[in-house]
Amino acid sequence: MYATHLQCPRCGQTYETEQIVNLCECGSPLLVRYDLEKVKAALTKDDLLLREPSLWRYRQLLPVKKTENIVTMGEGMTPLVPLDKIGGQLGLSSLYLKDEGVLPTGTFKTRGAAVGVSRAKELGAKTVIMPTNGNAGGAWSAYCARAGLKAVIVMPQDAPSINRVECAAAGADLYLVDGLISDAGKIVARALAENQWYDVSTLKEPYRIEGKKTMGLEIAEQFQWNPPDVIVYPTGGGVGIIGIYKALTELAQLGWIDGKFPRLVAVQAAGCAPIVKAWQENKTESQFWPDAKTIAFGLTVPKAIGDFLVLEAIYKTDGCALAVSDEDILKAQNDIASEEGLFICPEGAATLAAARQLTTTGWIKPHEKVVLLNTGTGLKYPKTIEPNPPVLQPDDKLPVD
Ligand SMILES: Cc1ncc(COP(=O)(O)O)c(C=O)c1O
Ligand SMILES: [Zn+2]
Repeated sequence: MYATHLQCPRCGQTYETEQIVNLCECGSPLLVRYDLEKVKAALTKDDLLLREPSLWRYRQLLPVKKTENIVTMGEGMTPLVPLDKIGGQLGLSSLYLKDEGVLPTGTFKTRGAAVGVSRAKELGAKTVIMPTNGNAGGAWSAYCARAGLKAVIVMPQDAPSINRVECAAAGADLYLVDGLISDAGKIVARALAENQWYDVSTLKEPYRIEGKKTMGLEIAEQFQWNPPDVIVYPTGGGVGIIGIYKALTELAQLGWIDGKFPRLVAVQAAGCAPIVKAWQENKTESQFWPDAKTIAFGLTVPKAIGDFLVLEAIYKTDGCALAVSDEDILKAQNDIASEEGLFICPEGAATLAAARQLTTTGWIKPHEKVVLLNTGTGLKYPKTIEPNPPVLQPDDKLPVD
C-alpha cells in the first residue's frame, strides 16, 4: 500500500492510516495522502493496459493494503458514451456522458462503497452506520452484505422507495426519518454516542472519497491522459467533485497529465443550491439551505460538510456552479432518453440542463470537449416519467394513422 497518512486539508494536521479516525480535531474531513514517488516507480500508464476493467486497476492509488480485503463486484471503468445528437443540438462537437448507471446497485455510490467497505473490513470494523439520501445506503448495504459487515442505514422517508428495497434485500438495519438527510445525520450522531460503530457518513471517513476519485482517474485514462476541457457534475454532498479534483491533482503530481485541469462545474437544483449561492458570493463555505426540495433527490443536501473543498475545486480549476430547475431536469432526462436512448437519473440529467445554459451563455465553447457525469440509472426513478399508453383488448387492432 502506498497510502502514507491522512491529512487535514484545513489545518494540515496528520493522522496515521492504521487507526479508525473520522474527522480532524478541527472538524474538517481528512484526505488520504500517498507516496506518489513510490507509486511512480511501481506503476506506469502502460501497466494499466493489461489490467482488469474495474476501479481496482488503480490499486496503487487506493488505500486498501491487502488484496484479500478487497470487496468487489467488478465495479468501475464505466463507458464514456458520445452524445452526438444532443451535442449537435447544442453546437458541441465533443459531448460525452460518463454513464455510472451501469455499475452494481445502479449508481456511482458503488465506487465509494466498494473502497469504503473494503477499508472498513481491513480496519476491523464490524458495524457501520450512515445517514443517506438513498443510493449510498443501497450501495453500502450491498457491499457490507458481501463483506459480512452489519450496515445501519438512516434515510429520509421521501427517498426513492427502491432504495429501501435495496437496503432491506441486503439485510441492513434500515430506519426512515420524517425529515431530510441532515435530520438523519443527527439521529446517526446520537446512535454513535451510545455504540462503538464505525461512522461512515459522507466525508466523515476518508476512504469513500478514494473510491469516487476513480471517476477522475478513468476519465483521464479514457481520454488518453489528455483530460477534457469541462466536466459537469451533479453536486449534493460533493464527494464526487472533490474526488475528481483529487484524482487530477494526483495524476498531475505523477506527471501523467499536464497541469491544465478540466474546468469543474458543480450543478445543483434550484430547490437546494447552497454551493451555487456560495460560489456566486465568492465565499469559501456555504450556508444551510432552508426548505430544500428537488426531484433530483440525491442533490437534497442543505449543507455539505466538505463544502469548502467543493468550492476550492471549482475556484482552482476556473470552473463554476449553477442551479437548474426541476422542470429543466425532467426535460433533459426525457431528451437524453428519446434522442440518445439513455434513461438516466434526474441528478445526471441536471448536467445536461446545465450544459444547455452554459453553451447559451458561451461559457462552454463549441470546440470544447465536455463530459457530463451521469451518476445513476433512470431505472431507479421510474416515477419521473409517467406514460399513459392505451390498453387494448386481445381482439383490438392498433389505431391506423
Ligand atoms: C444519483 C446521485 N447523484 C448525485 C449525488 C450527489 O453526490 P455527491 O455527494 O458526490 O455530490 C447523489 C447523492 O446522493 C446521488 O444519489
Ligand atoms: Zn484540521
